[in-house]
Amino acid sequence: MKLTYYGHACFSVFVGGKTLLFDPFIKYNELAKNVDINSIAADYILLSHGHQDHVADALEIAQRTGATIVSNFEVGEWFQSKGAKNVHPMNHGGKWKFDFGTVKMVAAVHSSGMPDGSYGGNPAGFVIETAEGSFYYAGDTALTMDMQLIPMTGGKLKFTVLPIGDNFTMGVDDAIIASDFVQCNSVVGVHYDTFGFIKINHEEAIKKFKNKGKELLLLSIGQTIEL
Ligand code: NI
Ligand code: MN
Repeated sequence: MKLTYYGHACFSVFVGGKTLLFDPFIKYNELAKNVDINSIAADYILLSHGHQDHVADALEIAQRTGATIVSNFEVGEWFQSKGAKNVHPMNHGGKWKFDFGTVKMVAAVHSSGMPDGSYGGNPAGFVIETAEGSFYYAGDTALTMDMQLIPMTGGKLKFTVLPIGDNFTMGVDDAIIASDFVQCNSVVGVHYDTFGFIKINHEEAIKKFKNKGKELLLLSIGQTIEL
């Protein structure tokens, strides 16, 4: 699997010959100004919740690529009303088999209004299982006991993508506990540095994970890694 980071909580995973793009927020992200949104491939666009900093570029990328938007029912409906052609609605606890593997929508503790104030359903995370391995993207969330259900109901995770910026989501210390809960020591950090409230000290964060025998990957914007 190849993972490319596009800043904030946006990344794509190339797996099973398909590109899964998560939570695109590029155009309004000052830190991602060198990313050309027209160069981003997507077969599926998975949206964890309705907030602007997770959905801002979803419609434009979906319309250019023909990608299918995968999100909760209300977020999906909102995108359909804006002209999105391909939408796959899900809800918590549900799992669906796609051509690249399965997606399970899992709980997140956060909120989910749409950019125009419409109701955005409930926020979620995703567990993706494929022939090349599995991973969990927590979305925006607090540390929650529900994360313990993930290794109980799915296989071993190859890596996990967790928010670490604090203030709006978990911070580093809680993300370390989250990685214990999901039984995965390879963590890609997201949702940090973009705004004043979520600026973090990279070295300190990496060291805290290392002290617990875990690896925290903080990728440069535009960087691609093999996992
Ligand atoms: Ni949010
Ligand atoms: Mn957010």
